[in-house]
Amino acid sequence: MSDDQVDGLGELVDVEPGPETLVLGIETSCDETAAALVMGGGDVVSSVVSSQIDLHVPYGGVVPEIASRAHLELLNPVIARTIVEAGVDERRIDAVACTVGPGLIGALLVGVSAAKALALSWDVPFVAVNHLEAHLYAALLDDPTIELPLVVLLVSGGHTMLVEMRDHGRYRLLGQTIDDAAGEAFDKVARFLGLGYPGGPAIERVAVDGDPEAIEFPRAMRNEGLDVSFSGLKTAVMNHVRQHPDVDTADVAASFQAAVVDVLVHKARRAAREVGAKGLALGGGVAANSKLREDLLDACDEDGLHGFLPSRAMCTDNAAMIAAAGWHRLRLDGPSPLDTGAYPNLRLRTED
Ligand code: KG4
Ligand code: ZN
Repeated sequence: MSDDQVDGLGELVDVEPGPETLVLGIETSCDETAAALVMGGGDVVSSVVSSQIDLHVPYGGVVPEIASRAHLELLNPVIARTIVEAGVDERRIDAVACTVGPGLIGALLVGVSAAKALALSWDVPFVAVNHLEAHLYAALLDDPTIELPLVVLLVSGGHTMLVEMRDHGRYRLLGQTIDDAAGEAFDKVARFLGLGYPGGPAIERVAVDGDPEAIEFPRAMRNEGLDVSFSGLKTAVMNHVRQHPDVDTADVAASFQAAVVDVLVHKARRAAREVGAKGLALGGGVAANSKLREDLLDACDEDGLHGFLPSRAMCTDNAAMIAAAGWHRLRLDGPSPLDTGAYPNLRLRTED
């Protein structure tokens, strides 16, 4: 079997993507089952996200086997609804793009198998998409006027990265977490405080009634380079609560959130300064956080940078960003081979 041909199943179809090219995006890497139709790499025609959060709440986190089974049940109805909401005939779809990693292997395989099957039966290209690259594209979806190069702060449940987006498909890693991702820190602290899962929104809700200056939590590596570290902060929160059992949970949540946001904004503006970027964008689930959004925009105003914030729905996992990134990947690389697998530890391809 060659790279561009699948045994007995036909050849890969090539499509030159243009402004009218309609891409179906599919996302099943974690606990959201999502599909979307995006035209021309930026115009969201329909986007459906079915969250499995309720299924995982009793366990305090995502249970991989439950996630895979739920994707199996939900994906076909989600795709069908996406097509119905768009009001298009499925024969109008020009390509199928799908997250192939990083993520949970069983969950990824559900989406990848469905995407290949649809691409084969519709005789259109299959496009493998890196979930991290797709998060970078979320800001561009909401604001197509964005000019590159751009610094993107990508903060999700599994990743925290500062990326220079030099051009489409050309990235430089400026900094990253050396231990916990920002979203992971939110989730772990929320679990410790008994606030439930997912932790980010829970902490944000409780923090509204708290004093962000009540507790001076550490800001590790704030003034060193562009990497970040959140594991010490998490431990500091736990130690503080154990030593002060009567502390107000709202004050802890607000002070923790203030520490995370302070470090992230400080590093992001330093990264923009170092590379001489004109714009700063946010991506990933933690980018839905109101304090992070407000403080980043204030910093951009002060530094004369354009600040780009995707809508909250585009920050957390969705398939519109997958379809958008897929359109650009199709333009850059052409269709992906149908023997492409699922890659739980896939990294963002970066340049020096
Ligand atoms: O990007 P995402 O939906 O999934 C991954 O690719 O990881 O990010 C999920 C993460 C979770 O850790 C969640 O707690 C966090 O994003 N998150 C938030 C908020 N909404 C979601 N963190 C802080 N504030 C929020 N409002
Ligand atoms: Zn994500």
